[in-house]
Amino acid sequence: MQDNRLPYRKFYSRKEKLEQQYGGDYSTKQHSKGKLTARERIELLLDEDSFHEIDAFVKPLDQSQDIFGDGVICGYGTISGRKVLIYVQDFNFMGGSLGYVHATKIQKVQDLALKMGHPIIGLIDSGGARIQEGIASLAGYAGIFKRNVASSGVVPQISVILGPAAGGAVYSPALTDFRFMVKNTSHMFVTGPQIVKEVLNEEVSFEELGGADVHSATSGVADFVYSDEEHCLLGVKKLLTYLPSNNMEHPPVSSVEEIEPLKMNNISLVLPEDSGKPYDVTDIIIRIVDRNSFFEVAENFAQNIVTGFGRLDNQVVGIIASQPKVMAGTLDINASRKAARFVRFCDAYNIPILVLEDVPGFMPGTDQEHNAIIMHGAKLLYAFSEATVPKITVILRKAYGGAYIVMNSKSMGGDFNFAWPTAEMAVMGPEGAVKILNRRELADADDPEALKNKLVQDYKEQIANPFIAEEKGFIDEVIDPVDTRRVLISAFGLLENKYEEKVPRKHGNIPL
Ligand code: HXC
Repeated sequence: MQDNRLPYRKFYSRKEKLEQQYGGDYSTKQHSKGKLTARERIELLLDEDSFHEIDAFVKPLDQSQDIFGDGVICGYGTISGRKVLIYVQDFNFMGGSLGYVHATKIQKVQDLALKMGHPIIGLIDSGGARIQEGIASLAGYAGIFKRNVASSGVVPQISVILGPAAGGAVYSPALTDFRFMVKNTSHMFVTGPQIVKEVLNEEVSFEELGGADVHSATSGVADFVYSDEEHCLLGVKKLLTYLPSNNMEHPPVSSVEEIEPLKMNNISLVLPEDSGKPYDVTDIIIRIVDRNSFFEVAENFAQNIVTGFGRLDNQVVGIIASQPKVMAGTLDINASRKAARFVRFCDAYNIPILVLEDVPGFMPGTDQEHNAIIMHGAKLLYAFSEATVPKITVILRKAYGGAYIVMNSKSMGGDFNFAWPTAEMAVMGPEGAVKILNRRELADADDPEALKNKLVQDYKEQIANPFIAEEKGFIDEVIDPVDTRRVLISAFGLLENKYEEKVPRKHGNIPL
């Protein structure tokens, strides 16, 4: 029963007006574009009845607009019982464009997330800076970006692009930890197709310029891509199960009972007999981590390296694995960028790191050199070296040269470095080494091919194997592949309380 006194009449009539705003044909426009409304999205993302809205009744800077909310719904709720802050842009109001008040609302939930130590999730569907508000909307973006940076490494920040993210709308996602996109309906670009046409006389569609496929496979901007919004929001929920709520906590420990991976006993057979042949490293990963626990990050980008989360005995680990089935698992610019960023995320949020290594080296060539593989490769060196979380490497097969060093080698700070008997560790691969070391003998030989084959075999037996590294202590133990999971659970268990103090400094100078 409603109280009929004047203050309450006003209170209820405002609520009624707010509801009317979301009634009528409110959902038609979004649905006709294959998109959900802001409220439907909140319902899908949060636990039932857990959402509390903040600032529902704020009005735009232009007070002549008699409408509530200024195009963004903000508040807090829970996902699987864990508190999160959210902001959800409403494309129905001026294309979700960011006005000053709209920005102030987002900043308020950003401040709450940071102060209270909860993850923040932004659902973005926006035409960028609100053109009518001029400099005020730009100032609004600046305030959001500043808070994104202040929160970086303190609370997980997740951006879900569910429509356009144009102009200023792209930079907050870029400053957050993960970006989700939906095929065909999400588009991210700094300048749209129209401007591209005017400035460069280049015809390009929304999809070709900044669609989900482009950003997940080519630019690497999008970490997760789904075919519809429902699955996308389920993906966000899944990601959260691997993350702590802030940098002072550890990731959640799962309580699943059936965790033994399937087909573990044939793990060594995943590697082909011929060490020059490719295989899929995810076939190794799923035989090591808890059953069904592997969750890949940036699956479509730089596929020569695999990054993702998994669990070992219900404890979360971040996995970085060379992928021999793509470009033989070599490290190139994009793979270095992708892995470095992932390592830094894990380190910021107390997620132990597991490296599975089978990498023949850095990618050679003018393209790579001219585009600064030197600096990008150094990012990965920097990231591993700087990380203080527990770090374990298992060398499965190739570990040559600089690539051996970079992938969390012992001398770079690996806490435990294991190798399978199939590991090949040396300054360079057998073919290259033999050509340099035995150039004269090969030139003088009656049958150079036969001699080369013999020398390659000798090199593999005498130099490129894990036993020499084990004898020198660069490898802690050469292990039977079938024991990998057991050894890792035990080693990560020992490292559980790892603590490393650093010399105070303002910040390092990562090779950006
Ligand atoms: C004000 C905007 C707007 C904006 C869209 N609208 N973008 N209003 N400011 N930035 C309004 C439209 O006028 C329209 O109003 C309604 O939102 C829906 O837009 P449509 O164009 O009808 O929708 P759609 O066809 O789906 O196209 C969406 C769109 C397009 C791709 C986002 O609207 C567009 O290109 N907008 C401009 C994008 C842009 O260039 N933004 C950059 C701003 S500069 P009505 O009343 O007709 O329904 C910027 C700089 C910041 O952001 C830099 C910081 C680093």
